[in-house]
Amino acid sequence: MPRTEIISTGFHVPANVVTNEELTEWWDTSDEWIRERTGIEQRYWVDKGKEAGSDLAAEASRQALERADMDASEIDCIVYATLSPDYYFPGGGVFLQRKLGLAGIPAIDIRNQCTGFVYGLSVADAWIRTGQYSRILLVGAEVHSTGIDYGPEGRDLGVLFGDGAGAAILGPTEDDGRGVLSTHLFADGKGAEKLWLGAEGGADYPRLSKEDVETGRIYPTMEGREVFKNAVVRMPESVMVALEANGLGAEDVDLVIAHQANLRINEMVTRRLGLSDDQVYNNIQQYGNTTAATIPIAMDEAVQKGLLERGDLLILTAFGSGFTWASAAIRW
Ligand code: COA
Repeated sequence: MPRTEIISTGFHVPANVVTNEELTEWWDTSDEWIRERTGIEQRYWVDKGKEAGSDLAAEASRQALERADMDASEIDCIVYATLSPDYYFPGGGVFLQRKLGLAGIPAIDIRNQCTGFVYGLSVADAWIRTGQYSRILLVGAEVHSTGIDYGPEGRDLGVLFGDGAGAAILGPTEDDGRGVLSTHLFADGKGAEKLWLGAEGGADYPRLSKEDVETGRIYPTMEGREVFKNAVVRMPESVMVALEANGLGAEDVDLVIAHQANLRINEMVTRRLGLSDDQVYNNIQQYGNTTAATIPIAMDEAVQKGLLERGDLLILTAFGSGFTWASAAIRW
């Protein structure tokens, strides 16, 4: 059975840079607070109402196609990870498909928030190994800036998130030893309300009321400390599962790309795994938390900076809303 290799990557963020300082226009916050607690220095936000997640995804996908020297028509499946689809339904995947002119091929949405890209990788990997599809476009794309509470209550979540998209083109490789070695997925719905958007869903009647808008129920909420506590346990755990499944140890790792939710979380993960700083790639400083897009954006940056070379061992790990968490081991 072939393994799945990552043929190419790409990413795209909106043109509009928003510094921490600029956030003080809406919220009682400061550059110092945000940097100290999260490491974030700036993020990119869309031109609101003019750019959607699928637009960012299309740009990221075109870049990945160009780098692979492939025509879009060679893609035979789209896997689209997002928590912020352009519309409630249909999912974002079909809008990306339309923008790439790929009518007819399947487009599946993955709704696993910050873990979405790794969940999507696991699905795509299984399809490629069994031969069902041979050129899968896997995308993580988010637009948060249109769903943030710009009122005083919104500062705790609002400062964390950025907009962006990352893409990877996956295909089979017969080159023994390379490719996706394993993926491990986990979830525990007991934590669902710790980070969620509790309105506008099918459980509500009416789904959306004037009161929801007035009381701010239309915005996501988070118990930050609880999320933090779980993230620093679950991500290292999932990395250890990945290493053990492949008979490897921390010393074998060339690069870890962890979901970019908070630099302090990732520093703790690095220490808990006994890794050195240069074994872990972080870029939250520039982009903030782009949920499903953080890992493919970081992966593409690492490739462009020459931090990933053929044969390197790359470990991905993510934790987020659900709670869900996951890891992947990839021989680059
Ligand atoms: N600017 C300034 N002050 C802020 C603020 C902001 N943006 N947000 C919250 N505060 C204040 C709080 O009101 C609180 O004030 P008080 O002490 O007067 O009550 C104080 O800062 C501490 O708030 P707290 O929420 O306890 O801070 P924290 O140390 O837990 O840091 C997070 C907050 C969000 C940075 C941190 O909890 C975190 O990163 N959690 C995980 C988030 C995450 O990973 N989310 C995505 C998962 S995929």
